[in-house]
Amino acid sequence: MAEDIEKAVARRRTFAIIAHPDAGKTTLTEKLLLFGGAIQLAGEVKAKKDKIQTRSDWMKIERERGISVVTSVMTFEYGDNVFNLLDTPGHEDFADDTYRTLSAVDSAVMVIDAAKGIEPRTLKLFEVCRLRDIPIITFVNKMDREARNTFEILDEIEEKLALDTAPITWPIGQGKTFAGTYHLAQNAVRRGDDEKERTEVHGPDSNRAAGLLPDNDRPAFIEELELAREACRPFDLQAFREGHLTPVYFGSALRNFGVRDLIEALGEFGPAPRAQEADTRKVEATEEKMTSFVFKIQANMDPNHRDRIAFVRVCSGELKRGMKAKLVRTGKPMSLSAPQFFFARSRITADEAYAGDVVGIPNHGTLRIGDTLTEGEDILFRGVPNFAPEILRRVRLGDAMKAKKLKEALHQMAEEGVVQLFQPEDGSPAIVGVVGALQIDVLKERLSVEYTLPVDFEMARFSICRWIDADDAADLHRFIESHRGDIARDLDNDPVFLAQHEFSLNYEAERWKMIRFAAIKDYQ
Ligand code: G4P
Repeated sequence: MAEDIEKAVARRRTFAIIAHPDAGKTTLTEKLLLFGGAIQLAGEVKAKKDKIQTRSDWMKIERERGISVVTSVMTFEYGDNVFNLLDTPGHEDFADDTYRTLSAVDSAVMVIDAAKGIEPRTLKLFEVCRLRDIPIITFVNKMDREARNTFEILDEIEEKLALDTAPITWPIGQGKTFAGTYHLAQNAVRRGDDEKERTEVHGPDSNRAAGLLPDNDRPAFIEELELAREACRPFDLQAFREGHLTPVYFGSALRNFGVRDLIEALGEFGPAPRAQEADTRKVEATEEKMTSFVFKIQANMDPNHRDRIAFVRVCSGELKRGMKAKLVRTGKPMSLSAPQFFFARSRITADEAYAGDVVGIPNHGTLRIGDTLTEGEDILFRGVPNFAPEILRRVRLGDAMKAKKLKEALHQMAEEGVVQLFQPEDGSPAIVGVVGALQIDVLKERLSVEYTLPVDFEMARFSICRWIDADDAADLHRFIESHRGDIARDLDNDPVFLAQHEFSLNYEAERWKMIRFAAIKDYQ
């Protein structure tokens, strides 16, 4: 039976994990899924990463380099909540994929290595979350190893991220002496994530916790805890929801410490699906009519089915199997006959999905990144970003007879977001653009395996690409006319200016003040 929309929305938590590589994202994901009952044995996620079994076996690059290229979604239940965990590729060459995924979440867990603190990629991903006011829960991982002083860790988060912190738990020891955490609000000692180890509740005195430590360490711990109570900020739900404050949890994903508190925090404080900004209005998650947008396309998830899955975030209403939706970009109806939910390794048919849920819609190229699906209303969700590529290449094809096939293949890859494709106005061969070099390798591999098109890449004359726009269409027209050799069109036919280097871009921007040169474009 269909769930009541309001109840269904209130239960949902859609989030991502942001972390610098090696901080423990995979281990934590695995534990979250394990406690959520989505996998039987810890090790499945890890196994995937370690190349023993990869879902996307078709992609040798991923296996050979041991990196996860794909972004996937995992749904699990814990307590009364339904969690949708959107996984993001760890490698920074696929950063644009990660940023698009962050457009589909309501909150994020930031994993920090207790010895290393805030690392560069954490900072970058945090900045993307901040742009979108995504509330963040912090998990300080690897407390079972030598860690920094707890106050130092909190100070670093405050300073580097300009984000207030409110520790909810406090580590009892660290490294060899790590014995668990002390829940400051509940006055409870946690000696692990198993139910029986979590329930000891005490008065506000910390002797029981200190008793877990070697004699020498006890006085310092008691003092630290007192100081923490006096000096640390209390948790403030509103400040958290607005993205100004992060609750901080300590633990060890590997050794099952602190993970349950983290899931429970997501359920308790984590925001339910938020209202989404569309071009003409804000869409509330509890509205009755279904609306959703595509934030990712993935081809060949299952090597046995050469299918293409569009990952759709439901924004309102109820997405029902078999329903007819309107694809707003084309105005055409589309039958959602086999929407799917994803679990750790399997997928099942989704009969109904609500705001916050992510479903995969198999299609043969009808859907593109940024597309909006509705029950008829003409609205477009904004905010799935497109980043100006940092590497531009011309594709060189050995067999000229296959030019048409190449064009089609590149078009498809561009629709999937694997690369961006630019057609120069002067009729010269297409230029592909990517954010990270590995994406070029992925493109090459896929053109060869899927389309039997062996290609090479040549340096293009250009190294910078910017979308151009002006308030007055006549100005834009004049600019385009006088720079024909440096103008190309993207997949939506929007014009871009291609510059050889930063200097020429600055030079033109100085001369043509009425033209906007944008490094980010929202899909529409
Ligand atoms: P990532 O996805 O963020 O890149 O990190 P991942 O979970 O793969 O963890 C990176 C390494 O850190 C792994 O070790 C993992 O076992 C270890 N690790 C994760 N959480 C903890 C923790 O709480 N405590 C300790 N001590 N280690 C942790 P590895 O040697 O690269 O892999 P493996 O051979 O141990 O599987």
